[in-house]
Amino acid sequence: MKTRCLGALLLGALFSNNFNAFAQAPKPVYLDAAQPVEVRVEDLLSRLTLAEKISIVHADSKFTTAAIPRLNIPRRWLDDGPHGVREDIGPDTWQPAGRTDDFSTAMPSGICLGATWNPDLGFKEGEVIGQEARWRGKDIMLGPGVNILRTPLCGRNFEYLGEDPFLSGVMCSGYIRGEQSQDISSCVKHFALNNQEYQRGSINVEVDERALREIYLPAFKAAVQSGGVWSVMGAYNQLRGQHCCHNDYLLNKILKDEWGFQGLVMSDWDGTHDTQQAGLNGLDLEMGTETNYANFYLAQPYLKGLQSGEFSMAGLDEKVRRNLRVMIATHVLDTDRKKGSFNTAAHQTVARQVAEEGIVLLKNENHALPLAAAKLKTIAVIGENATRLHAHGGDSSGIKAFYEITPLQGLVNRVGTNVNIIYSEGYRKGGGADLAERAVAAAKSADVVIYIGGLNHDRGFDCEGADRADMKLPYGQDELIQKIVAANPKTIVVLEGTMVEMDAWLDQVPALLQGWYPGMEGGNALARVLFGDVNPSGKLPATFPKKLSDTPAAMFGASAYPGTNGTVTYAEGLLVGYRWFDTKNIEPQFPFGFGLSYTTFKYSDLKLVPATNGTVTAQFAIENTGQLAGAEVAQLYVHQKNPALMRPEKELKGFRKVFLKPGEKQSISIPLDKAAFAYYDDTQQAWVTPEDDFEILIGSSSRDLRLRDHWHFAGSPKPGHAKVFNLYPPYYAFKNNWSGREIGWHPGTGDAPQWTASFDFATNSLYGYPASARGWHYGWNPTGDDLFPKKLSDISSLPCNFSYDCGGDDLHGDFAYDIFLRRDDRKAEPQLEVMVWGANNSTPIGQIISTNILEADGTAFDLWAGTNAAAGYYVYSFAPHQKGDKLAGGGGLNVDLMDFFGQLKGRENFSSEMYLDVVEAGFEIVRGTGWATCGWFSCEAN
Ligand code: BGC
Repeated sequence: MKTRCLGALLLGALFSNNFNAFAQAPKPVYLDAAQPVEVRVEDLLSRLTLAEKISIVHADSKFTTAAIPRLNIPRRWLDDGPHGVREDIGPDTWQPAGRTDDFSTAMPSGICLGATWNPDLGFKEGEVIGQEARWRGKDIMLGPGVNILRTPLCGRNFEYLGEDPFLSGVMCSGYIRGEQSQDISSCVKHFALNNQEYQRGSINVEVDERALREIYLPAFKAAVQSGGVWSVMGAYNQLRGQHCCHNDYLLNKILKDEWGFQGLVMSDWDGTHDTQQAGLNGLDLEMGTETNYANFYLAQPYLKGLQSGEFSMAGLDEKVRRNLRVMIATHVLDTDRKKGSFNTAAHQTVARQVAEEGIVLLKNENHALPLAAAKLKTIAVIGENATRLHAHGGDSSGIKAFYEITPLQGLVNRVGTNVNIIYSEGYRKGGGADLAERAVAAAKSADVVIYIGGLNHDRGFDCEGADRADMKLPYGQDELIQKIVAANPKTIVVLEGTMVEMDAWLDQVPALLQGWYPGMEGGNALARVLFGDVNPSGKLPATFPKKLSDTPAAMFGASAYPGTNGTVTYAEGLLVGYRWFDTKNIEPQFPFGFGLSYTTFKYSDLKLVPATNGTVTAQFAIENTGQLAGAEVAQLYVHQKNPALMRPEKELKGFRKVFLKPGEKQSISIPLDKAAFAYYDDTQQAWVTPEDDFEILIGSSSRDLRLRDHWHFAGSPKPGHAKVFNLYPPYYAFKNNWSGREIGWHPGTGDAPQWTASFDFATNSLYGYPASARGWHYGWNPTGDDLFPKKLSDISSLPCNFSYDCGGDDLHGDFAYDIFLRRDDRKAEPQLEVMVWGANNSTPIGQIISTNILEADGTAFDLWAGTNAAAGYYVYSFAPHQKGDKLAGGGGLNVDLMDFFGQLKGRENFSSEMYLDVVEAGFEIVRGTGWATCGWFSCEAN
């Protein structure tokens, strides 16, 4: 390694200004795809000049960053967004570039994807967008959007995944994995609390810590820890007085330190406001709308600060490193990068499937639907949205679609010439009474009316940059629907857009469908649902209130929404969406999770199967008791009986979508981990899993609960410490190119291995081994593959001792354990719990930021060790693991344990006993490998 680094340096020095010579030189390490990501990152970083580094952390046009030709670094292309690949603009203007090759498959909007409750479709949608993004030469796609629907009025609700953090987290993780499988980085947005468009660029959000942690952050956390997202976009608004694009608490403390995010944080466009904060508070890439790119906060002003010593070079390196890591992880510098594809039949099918599964049947009296084409002579299609194109609207999420099947076109496609379709517009912005009269006449002359109305993407409705003024249907549609249904009672109402008040006509119409913005195949999807080719299976991802004044943000007055004097206070705290309606006993129009089917489902046989660590799996059966094949989304909610702190009446903690033929019965298992019972205690600043009785509620919606049982959760298990043993990571001076001295991890060489300790893991042997033997420090898959044949059947403890003394200088440090386990047996639902304790066993030091177990289907995800963002510490691993790694047998688990010792900062020395306590529950590791790592520390001159 020493030799290689030296060689690289020499090469860099010799050829840094000579591209031809460089091209003839042996392949540099950073261009060698066989090398681990981190090695390539460090190698490339070491070759960059200061000016080049600066060019990497800010834009050079609306959607690009500069190329560095001498190092073969191409221009990086970013693009919106969540619903497809936006048309090209600019480079220095928001006007379309006028190209003819920038069309894209237009997917249904985010809220429609949320309504599918189908994570596999999330994956497929992400995959399609990733493929088209690659085809269009993009590198980072600006989506998905996962801000929580706090008020029905937010202009961007249509882009997001609904009101529930758990649902949003699951759905966005699938999307991200799909998109990133195509060598594209997703960019989850807008982090965080961008829950309104009103004054979005400046509004200051005051939210209590519990609501922040339990409601507004979990989807982002899932994007990072379960989706493995490589980029995060900061939000325009402020949190507690500091803009989110450079909010120290959100970006440094939570995102990077606590959650271990190793990718890059970019600003929203013009969301950066201050050089010092941009330099220090976790922003890695500044994007914007101004065109003097050299004036960006992270351009010349930052450079000046670096030169004057206001900012450390290590801080810059950390930003650059994160950018490079995303480039390398997405294979930007590799020859075999995925090329993508566009507008394939498969893409169109996914667009249609998402729409079909996202459309929600809200009412269906006397089997008004599905329609039987053979029995119909004339259908009156009424409503502007029957012919209106939506895909291009909404602002940044708009798509220049290859084509867009409107509802009217979809119906014509479906019935052909067998049924007469008459169309009447009915309403329009600024339209007169004659429109309504003609529509009524059309309704009278038809066997059935399909009314297609709702909202659209005009500013002030479902559109970025402004909120809605109310929840009313615009353009006199309330009156129009009443007139139409009076003329023809067989009126099926289809609403596009987001939620509206419906009391004026709901009880008069026999059937109602929520169609959202269903993308370019939406018309076909809708027709297939209306005629029963597809059985609707969408469920509301957000509560539909009867009226705006029932919603929490409205009940607490202007300070709670839209805010007063530049601040909005989330006075409802945790009680967002159904948490509010259920806890306060307010009847919604349609509850969260609600959606009908053309068939019926019977739930039965609930059994709560305990795991040995005190958690539980709910097992039950669902049977299709009707005549048609269909899908049901079984939802699991948890209700705590005697909470010490207020808790919402119930909370979604699991769901499964099952497809069943008539008469088919399937058993379902939904495991609940500790997190399903936990709440965030702001006095302890920690997640707490209380001992208490819980009700496990299972049903077809949040208010249609079919099965229930009690569960006593015994609380967090007490750690049981076993043998003590010492593990001393070798002292190693490595790349001393920042201000301090560094000790700790090193990639390892033959003569200086990363670490060589072997240690006793309770009665089983878990071995450490020199990284050099495996190449870099990836510990996965050692020869023989069976270093770790063991049963984790006992409480086990993995302790280790450290001590570091900085001799008067300041200590900084991070610490992590990663354990990778592989199992062959997928039958059981595994739970593994780990606690890290320090200071002679009594006081927890730092915070364990992750004890989650991630299913890694097909790919091993290497999870990360700590890094101290501000100080620019070396990071030793990054997801995903070696490309192409496959888990043999039934699949694998990664257990990612991280403990970040923010508190070490500023101390002179540190010594502690550490214990890693493992509590096995319900699974057996038949064969597996494992490795544990200890972190690294550094001293910095104070
Ligand atoms: C939006 C982002 C979008 C960006 C680039 C901003 O105004 O808030 O969601 O990705 O523009 O178009």
